[in-house]
Amino acid sequence: MHYLDHAATTDLRPEAADEWLRVARATGNASSTHGAGQQARRILEESRERLAAMLGCDPIEVVLTSGGTESVNLAVQGLWRSRPEGSDAILLPDGEHHATLDTVAALAADGARVIAVGLDAVGRIPVDAFAAKVASDGVGVATALMANNEVGTVNDAAALAASAAAARVPLHLDAVAAFGHLPLSFAVLRGDAPAGAGLVALSVAGHKIGAPTGTGALVVARTARLAPLLHGGGQQRGLRSGTQDVAGAAAFAVAAELTIAERASESARLGALRDRLVAGILERVPSAELLGDPDAAGRLPGNAHLLFPGAPSESLLFLLDVAGVSASAGSACQAGIAEPSHVVQALGRSETEARSVIRFTVGRTSTEGDVDAVLAVIGDAYARASGAVR
Ligand SMILES: Cc1ncc(COP(=O)(O)O)c(C=O)c1O
Repeated sequence: MHYLDHAATTDLRPEAADEWLRVARATGNASSTHGAGQQARRILEESRERLAAMLGCDPIEVVLTSGGTESVNLAVQGLWRSRPEGSDAILLPDGEHHATLDTVAALAADGARVIAVGLDAVGRIPVDAFAAKVASDGVGVATALMANNEVGTVNDAAALAASAAAARVPLHLDAVAAFGHLPLSFAVLRGDAPAGAGLVALSVAGHKIGAPTGTGALVVARTARLAPLLHGGGQQRGLRSGTQDVAGAAAFAVAAELTIAERASESARLGALRDRLVAGILERVPSAELLGDPDAAGRLPGNAHLLFPGAPSESLLFLLDVAGVSASAGSACQAGIAEPSHVVQALGRSETEARSVIRFTVGRTSTEGDVDAVLAVIGDAYARASGAVR
């Protein structure tokens, strides 16, 4: 099988799996005061410190969660519930992940006003528009992707954070797609923002970088005002009650350290694989079009997102799958029918175009052979899916 869907989830790192098993074998609740509990506590806090070093924050700012969706929910709902007095609006760029979109929709159903920010043609949040809107009356929470998970476009997170700081609005950054692929430091992005404003929360997920599924974190600035979603034992500064997953934290720390140690060399390797994949596809399917930023500096290294005019995503995905290639339409897929991608539509594309896209994402275990496998079948798959051959 040729797996080119590393943005959906990537292979568990063997070192993270070993660490998970080693720690999971030991009994002990990190909140217990006896020896076994304290041993678990030591491993947990050491893992939190190691994760904090990788995220560029203080250990106390790392709130461990079950993954990206929980982190985003805690950030957006938690900030909203603690929003500054008098504010009634959430700033929501187009093209966000459904974890954010649907959380904001739920808050809107409860009365929140939503202020949208349109994307540019490559899928980037325009800094000027974001800055103008974040400073408008009533904005109590702002959220933004550090990098778009579908088209791979990298946002200017530092500029977005600075504009939120200037407007004294708390900002959540969804870094689920970016972490491990782009340089990232919470402290640097936060800068000298005033207490409770600017970048105050940042979401990451373990399974995107080779840690077990079910691990994740929300970085929450010390000065952030954020209400918990889960109530109970008061663990993790009271922001996320519940017995902590010590083995998951240890495995997440191992995966994060390895990913970040390899980041620069992997970015170059994956960028080269991706470029060969894109060039090969465009040669075999001349009508295909690369969406997102064509400039490698503005795009996640492993991301190739292409429009295949006239070929429904689900037909292409099916034909690729039959040929042993796993890819994605980059959007939620229900009952086998891919929904038109809201991200592609946010780029100014039609609904039909938004139903004719494929995202290929390469990762740690990807090889030249995976690229060759796509190139061997894509021309025929496109001809069939677009109806040129039956
Ligand atoms: C940008 C982004 N945010 C949030 C999520 C949700 O993360 P999880 O699958 O860990 O719940 C994803 C997952 O694809 C993502 O890409």
